[in-house]
Amino acid sequence: MNEPYTTHECDVLVVGAGGAGMRAAVAAAEAGCSTLVVSKSLLGKAHTVMAEGGVSAALGNLDGEDDWETHFADTMLGGQLVNNWRMVDLYARDVIDRVYELERWGGIFDRTDDGRIMQRPFGAHSWKRLCYVGDRTGLELIRTCQDKLVHTPGVDVHMEYTLTRLLKDGDRVCGAIGYRRNDGRFVAIKAGAVVLATGGWGRMFRHTSNSWEGTGDGAALAYNAGADLLDMEFMQFHPTGMMWPPGVRGLLVTEAVRGEGGILKNSDGRRFMLDYDAKKMELSSRDVVARSIYKEVKAGRGSPHGGAFLDIASVHDAVYIKSKLPSMYEQFHALAAVDITQEPMEVGPTIHYTMGGVRVEAETAATTVPGLYAAGEVAGGLHGANRLGGNSLGDILVFGRCAGIAAAEFAKSNGVRRNVSETEIAEEQRSMLAYLDDDGVKPVENPYLVHVDLQKAMQDDAGIGRSEESLTRALNAIGELRLRAARARVGGGRVLNPGWHTCRDLENMFVISEAIVRSALSRRESRGSQWRFDFENKDETLGQVNFAVRRDGEGMKVVGVPLELMPPEAVKRLAKSRFYDAATMPSYYRDAAPATSEAGA
Ligand code: FUM
Repeated sequence: MNEPYTTHECDVLVVGAGGAGMRAAVAAAEAGCSTLVVSKSLLGKAHTVMAEGGVSAALGNLDGEDDWETHFADTMLGGQLVNNWRMVDLYARDVIDRVYELERWGGIFDRTDDGRIMQRPFGAHSWKRLCYVGDRTGLELIRTCQDKLVHTPGVDVHMEYTLTRLLKDGDRVCGAIGYRRNDGRFVAIKAGAVVLATGGWGRMFRHTSNSWEGTGDGAALAYNAGADLLDMEFMQFHPTGMMWPPGVRGLLVTEAVRGEGGILKNSDGRRFMLDYDAKKMELSSRDVVARSIYKEVKAGRGSPHGGAFLDIASVHDAVYIKSKLPSMYEQFHALAAVDITQEPMEVGPTIHYTMGGVRVEAETAATTVPGLYAAGEVAGGLHGANRLGGNSLGDILVFGRCAGIAAAEFAKSNGVRRNVSETEIAEEQRSMLAYLDDDGVKPVENPYLVHVDLQKAMQDDAGIGRSEESLTRALNAIGELRLRAARARVGGGRVLNPGWHTCRDLENMFVISEAIVRSALSRRESRGSQWRFDFENKDETLGQVNFAVRRDGEGMKVVGVPLELMPPEAVKRLAKSRFYDAATMPSYYRDAAPATSEAGA
């Protein structure tokens, strides 16, 4: 017998209300679909705000040499050539229009003297390409999209909903079930198509820039519904998170500090990036900078709390720093009693972003399950083995829109199916309510402590550097923690009960952690953010493969999927990057690869 539940019905259900979700919802509604956005958190509060330094688009306002082809080249090279090249192609072209669209919707940007959108340099971008608003670009993007969303007819929003299962009619997704966080009542949503825009999953690591929402719900929903996850081994450590005090460890220190000229130093006062990437220095790609800090610390040259020093005070005066980096100034002042206009910041790697995610078709954001779409950080493919800063805000605009359009088309041609399964709903309700039952299970586990132990296992054994041995340890730990989590019980009822929510979030975090670890074990090479101590080099065979994670009965399997190689005209484009190096081209691209960079460095 089912618990009572509230039913909603819509053409397109969008799960998640960050930039990707809102952009998808606007697109679906503009295509004439009734669109429901549900968000685990409050509207306007999303990890989108943590992309602070800008949105990358080759407008060429500061550097006239820039164009979409160079953006394509930088993104492919940054991703170590395992990106979905068609996504990158579409992205680099379309993001220019999306930025101008944002401007038309009322987005405020810093400006050049003659009134054009201002752009700044960022890691591994050939030219000044990041369009920005001080160091609050993600916040401004959210504000603008939110304003557009609430003025778009046909969109409804429900906040503080957690969806726990996608409902299917045969192969096709036809809605979802979940609960309202404020009163714990169940909801079922019947939909013609579903767009996942739930962001990433930093919360299973100890040090992360992600806030509490980032538990991988969307990817776990998709996986449980039969969709493939791709590139799950590629987790981005942003090089600069706060190190001290402990309560704010991991909080983002925007790359814009380095974009504005900030210098990294070790405890000897040496500008150590000279030793790791003398060409790009602090603006090397994030995987390289994060690893460099890690190596300095391991060599005993770290800062007092295990990081490095980031100095902007000796580069610019206080007025400039406060105008370009106002949030950083306030953040360090308020949280660490550090005046960044006078003294260096202490920074170190923090989990920031997930390159992998739900496997999608480039042009439509369609997953491998009919009726299900995914956009933004929850989707995989665009960024390959390492994302360039600024490409996330562009990603959510470009592919949020693609997903909204395609989902609307699917819903219109296939209609809302009404036969959701009461059995599935009852099953889901039973498993949620079990965490509240005092059914005599012994010993009872505290879900928060299980979470802390999961974070330890992932941080220590599946973190910035991994090996077969450490990953195996992580996999075993996940298995044991799952057993403990099955005994988690909480008191306090269903109203605003974060302990209860954590019990359910853990289920998702286990799926995602296992997917990360199994994929990292399968990729027996180092590439981008995947640094294997036991396989230090790239492997050409693995350079032609993405790993997909798929449900296999009650278990999980990882399969190598041959990636679609770039055609010769796309390979030729790579030489437009200032960082192109013919000597590093894999043999399978060598025939088409130019001998030198067109741009020089
Ligand atoms: O450092 C930052 O401002 C982050 C940007 C991004 O992740 O794109």
